[in-house]
Amino acid sequence: MSSALQFLKVAVRNPTQISNLWKTSPFTVRKLLSPLKADGYCRVLELGAGVGTLTYTINKIIKNKNNYIGIEINEGFFQFLTKSYPELKFYSASVEAIEEICNHQKFDLIISTLSWFNLDSAVQENILVQIKAHLEKGGYFKTYLFVTHLFFKDGREFQKKLYDKFNVDTSYEFLNFPPIKIFECRLKK
Ligand SMILES: C[S@@+](CC[C@H](N)C(=O)[O-])C[C@H]1O[C@@H](n2cnc3c(N)ncnc32)[C@H](O)[C@@H]1O
Repeated sequence: MSSALQFLKVAVRNPTQISNLWKTSPFTVRKLLSPLKADGYCRVLELGAGVGTLTYTINKIIKNKNNYIGIEINEGFFQFLTKSYPELKFYSASVEAIEEICNHQKFDLIISTLSWFNLDSAVQENILVQIKAHLEKGGYFKTYLFVTHLFFKDGREFQKKLYDKFNVDTSYEFLNFPPIKIFECRLKK
């Protein structure tokens, strides 16, 4: 089964985990992975790897495969990822276990395509605190929200959490379905 079809099937069955019927667009993938493009030796942590929309490109660019960790909660996606990318390390777990999985490892690029909107506020906070703890100085944490979520209270509160913890640059990608606002977060000095 193609990765797109597998994604669609699981998305229909698990709307709260996936939140979107379509995979992240190639235009968004390019923006999210720009630090890795600039330095192929980046240590990368991918949160919510799904059927590998970003992983495919990461695997092509990354110079040292040991520099990658992917976390995916859905067992079917996890099986698909481990079969498709045997050279990369994946964990079948919730990203709430970053600390447990990564110990004291730091990353130059942490990418999340998680559907933040479906996570409650305390869970979001817990994940963001762990992301911050595992981000290398000078590194990037990149994530996005669908533009449709920006105007809801939950969307505004999530953005506030990002701004409280990180220095944030934003951009929009309209060649994504639905269109998104991308957050490029770096540690505060
Ligand atoms: C919107 S999909 C994005 C999938 C893929 N990375 C892409 O860009 O097309 C979100 C992914 O996060 C996974 N996910 C949701 N909640 C999670 C959690 N708490 N821990 C780990 N993965 C999670 C879902 O199973 C799904 O694969």
